[in-house]
Amino acid sequence: MPTVSWDPTGPFIKMIDQRLLPHEFRFLELHNLEELTVAIKTMAVRGAPALGAAAAYGLALVAMQSSAETVDSLRDELDAAATEIEQSRPTAVNMKWALERILKETGEKEILDPEDLRAEILAGAKAIAEEDVLTNRKMAAFGAALLPDPSLVIHHCNTGALATVDHGTALGVVRTAHEQGKQIHVLVDETRPRLQGARLTAWELQQAGIPFDIISDNAAGYFLASAEVDAVLVGADRVAANGDVANKIGTYMLALAANDNLVPFYCVAPTSTFDLACPTGELIPIEERDPKEVLDIVQDGHPVAPQDSTARNPAFDITPNRLVTAFITERGVLRPPFAENIRQILKTKE
Ligand code: MRU
Repeated sequence: MPTVSWDPTGPFIKMIDQRLLPHEFRFLELHNLEELTVAIKTMAVRGAPALGAAAAYGLALVAMQSSAETVDSLRDELDAAATEIEQSRPTAVNMKWALERILKETGEKEILDPEDLRAEILAGAKAIAEEDVLTNRKMAAFGAALLPDPSLVIHHCNTGALATVDHGTALGVVRTAHEQGKQIHVLVDETRPRLQGARLTAWELQQAGIPFDIISDNAAGYFLASAEVDAVLVGADRVAANGDVANKIGTYMLALAANDNLVPFYCVAPTSTFDLACPTGELIPIEERDPKEVLDIVQDGHPVAPQDSTARNPAFDITPNRLVTAFITERGVLRPPFAENIRQILKTKE
């Protein structure tokens, strides 16, 4: 069941409402641009590739609903909508990538009728969603080959089927290794403050019958030092041209601990997550979310923090390329020197 899909009957975008999991599995129907940007900001849909597909379908929704009577005026509306969608969450580059790809591909075609442009935009969005699943399967096969049998892996955030259209990036590697019959056990970082690990990754692993234990984020160093862990698997929200990685907050500390204990640190990301226009990680915009997400912990009916406490809540951090053992992409496994190898692999088609 895809995380994000297009329903032609509305038309509307259909997506799993991730805010309700693991307690309730329900689909959300989004009928206009505003509903989409709210869903993105409140994290009903989240995870870089799923955001890319949602953004693409959002553009299709705008195209279908527009009353523009000329191709030029429709293109203007689409450009404005793309800017609005892209700004709804700034760090994951997949939204920008998906929107730019559709606008570029349709922009290069000579289209005279707005109806034809609408059809082309929808076809472009569907292609992005369909490709995402194939891409994940390819990455997962490359990644699974790197895991010994049996394996104990640490995983951060949620990078599974829910963070993509289906299958997943880093968690896709775990799924494929499990399908291949390898004995994989996952230590699931709970991933403060939104707890994507404890809520979503644990739910996905449970559904798939893959053994796991949830750990508090700060226990990862303990397990890495105990020499039991075979690999750390994470996804990415944006990879700079030099291989610096923006990913869920806490990834940097995990990478440091993996490096100190000589445990391979694999970043599993499709080529759509690489941003050649961004030379280094310092230039990646980091989303800072509502401090309430940090402060909203209740124990025995009371908030744990003193009343009127303030908090900081960066949603992502940057892991420098020197801490990454390899990138696992749909076009193969990339090892250092990253700047050169990233440029090279992005030039190739498959
Ligand atoms: O804030 P989120 O939940 O959208 O963050 C998601 C992640 O950090 C994932 O690790 C990620 O998008 C990469 S792989 C699907």
